[in-house]
Amino acid sequence: MSSSPSSDYEPMFTRPGEASVAPRHLIPPQGSLPATARQIVEDETILDGNARLNLATFVSTWMDDDAKQVYTSSFDKNMIDKDEYPQTAAIEDNCWHMLANLWNAPDASGAIGTSTVGSSEACMLGGLAFKRRWQQARRAAGKDTSTPNLVMSSAVQVCWEKFCNYFDVEPRYVPISEEHKTLDGHDLATYVDENTIGVVAIMGVTYTGMYEPVAAIAAALDEIQKDTGLDIPIHVDGASGAMIAPFLQPDLVWDFRLERVHSISTSGHKYGLVYPGLGWVVWREEKWLPEDLVFKVSYLGGEMPTFALNFSRPGAQVLLQYYLFLRLGFEGYRAVQQESQDVAKYLSAGIAGLDAFELWNDGSDIPVFAWRLKDGHTKNWTLYHLQDRLRMRGWLVPAYPMPADLEQITVQRIVVRNGLSMDLAADLLDAITAEVAHLDALTAPMPSDHPDSAFHH
Ligand SMILES: Cc1ncc(COP(=O)(O)O)c(C=O)c1O
Repeated sequence: MSSSPSSDYEPMFTRPGEASVAPRHLIPPQGSLPATARQIVEDETILDGNARLNLATFVSTWMDDDAKQVYTSSFDKNMIDKDEYPQTAAIEDNCWHMLANLWNAPDASGAIGTSTVGSSEACMLGGLAFKRRWQQARRAAGKDTSTPNLVMSSAVQVCWEKFCNYFDVEPRYVPISEEHKTLDGHDLATYVDENTIGVVAIMGVTYTGMYEPVAAIAAALDEIQKDTGLDIPIHVDGASGAMIAPFLQPDLVWDFRLERVHSISTSGHKYGLVYPGLGWVVWREEKWLPEDLVFKVSYLGGEMPTFALNFSRPGAQVLLQYYLFLRLGFEGYRAVQQESQDVAKYLSAGIAGLDAFELWNDGSDIPVFAWRLKDGHTKNWTLYHLQDRLRMRGWLVPAYPMPADLEQITVQRIVVRNGLSMDLAADLLDAITAEVAHLDALTAPMPSDHPDSAFHH
């Protein structure tokens, strides 16, 4: 008796589902073999850039094999199921306590914190705590609460614009300039008033990687308090820097050593070294997180406080963070971050050595740096053309305009992460050198079709 051959045996790329264009907007009426569906998904994503060569992102693109095992054995866990996964909940608790200590909370047992899906959610929680505390104080004093504002640099990451938009807070941007490349306390008194819910200080400005001098901002706010009585708190957006400064610049005072710093957020998935999907926020003292923002979920027959925008989210990332804290320890994190910084400085020195460029900064804060074309170097090409040339070789190195008031300046930026080895960096430098030589050899201007798009990383 003969049977028709299983489609498993049909020649490659001729099986049902493979020899046709996969539907784009409609769920297909029939399913396909798992291997076929997988083939299509993997083939379609071949067209993505290579994550390891993506020097635009701050987010981890490499973890070791043991981490992958931790991931595979836990990707079914929902972080919100605290009653069902009490150990995962306890590990989350351990992790933010570790961070409270890392960030020099005077008493980590009196701090409060949580994991989030990333820095954006963590920043929003920090902003919400500011807003609610300000409202409570204003109501208690019989004052108007209709016009809260938040003061920050014009170079904040887009999550702060979203926070202000979504939660009805007026954003007050202090413009950065050639003299004041970051928010540094200069002129702060003209921006804050009785409706200011807080000031955001960024440890690792997204555009350039530079630290904002949190201690100088705190000192400026101390002066303002002396003059006006206004006691304005700081949230440190340490998306990148809060996982670099404790290891590479331990003497820099930016964290809970400053009493005015009420809360700090970071991305576990950036220099926390975990794959995407993890952020953290910690308040110096429990009192800075208004109780009426906190919800309770059931936990071991009791109740566990949660403060989050999401309900369900992956628990695996939290376990990966714990894995890394144990695997690397303080010394391991220091060594990994130092290596990234060495690579960043090697690259920035190499780029500064090319006639065409001038550095904006050199990667000595977080391992991120930006550069621009020297004035008058060429009329034939821009950094957008260099970006395109590098992309042809697989390297993703974004060029973009600086924020408001400096938008006429275009910079290009490299984010060095664990996984960009010195050896790969040498190849990148060779590629940049060769492409600059190619562009410099042009005898007429390249067409310019790059919209001045805002940069949202
Ligand atoms: C300073 C800063 N804050 C917030 C964010 C948003 O972080 P996430 O992507 O983790 O939401 C970023 C992302 O690059 C950032 O650089």
